[in-house]
Amino acid sequence: MKVVKKIKEMQKLADKYRTQKKIIGFVPTMGYLHEGHLSLVRIAKKKSDICVVSIFVNPLQFGPQEDYHIYPRDFPRDKKLLKVLGVDIIFYPEVKEMYPEEQLTFVQVRKLSEGLCGRSRPGHFEGVATVVAKLFNIVKPHIAVFGQKDYQQAVIIKKMVKDLNFDVKIIIAPTVREKDGLACSSRNIYLSEKERKEAVVLYQSLLLAKEMITKGERNPEEIIKEMKKLITTKSSGKIDYIEIVDADTLQPIKEIRGKVCIALAVFFDKARLIDNILVQSG
Ligand code: PAF
Repeated sequence: MKVVKKIKEMQKLADKYRTQKKIIGFVPTMGYLHEGHLSLVRIAKKKSDICVVSIFVNPLQFGPQEDYHIYPRDFPRDKKLLKVLGVDIIFYPEVKEMYPEEQLTFVQVRKLSEGLCGRSRPGHFEGVATVVAKLFNIVKPHIAVFGQKDYQQAVIIKKMVKDLNFDVKIIIAPTVREKDGLACSSRNIYLSEKERKEAVVLYQSLLLAKEMITKGERNPEEIIKEMKKLITTKSSGKIDYIEIVDADTLQPIKEIRGKVCIALAVFFDKARLIDNILVQSG
């Protein structure tokens, strides 16, 4: 396994593999890897000849009051985990390699970036789309794998790829959960023991929503009301948002119909956790 820190070197390697007709599979990450990331890597490996994982905590996607400086980092541990999985290349650039001078070019995916997490994290998805576009131009993958846990991000990247004609196939892989249902996230490390126990309520509230839909409830507001009740009575979590949106357009809906995404973000002290499920209603 090679660790590549320079853009030019990564691009040269990508060109070499492409000339050899090798399929490049790519998983972009911010490191501090957990089972969720590893599942994405396994998928990328299965579908490619050369598997590249990037580790880069991207300052562009963090707001000034957010956790960029304290975001967990452990490269030696990540490297061991990726080696075991048989990853070929870790692309591990420094900030000054990715942003050597003031970045004046940004990728903005309108509408899809405006609701859900975009409302509480202005500029976040512009930072994500910009760095992913850069990474695609550096790693030159044929396939890139993203997790459903960041569903809005995945939908935005898919749209960016379509609108800007990137020649990359985007795969959205299922959310990996801890045994009790909590979605794997690097930010779970911020939770105290008590908060960690309480955080299971997030998935429970999503399951409650799904059950209500299965039983025939079609009013999103009724469902959101019950989810809020469950979260606030069973935890100290502060709800940022709970929304039910159309799974393709991410626009809020007045009536549950077709494929919907039930998404939430909840603060447990400094940990802002997100989760979602997709439900196909009748
Ligand atoms: O999902 C993430 O870890 C990040 O948003 C990504 C896609 C690596 C871009 O920095």
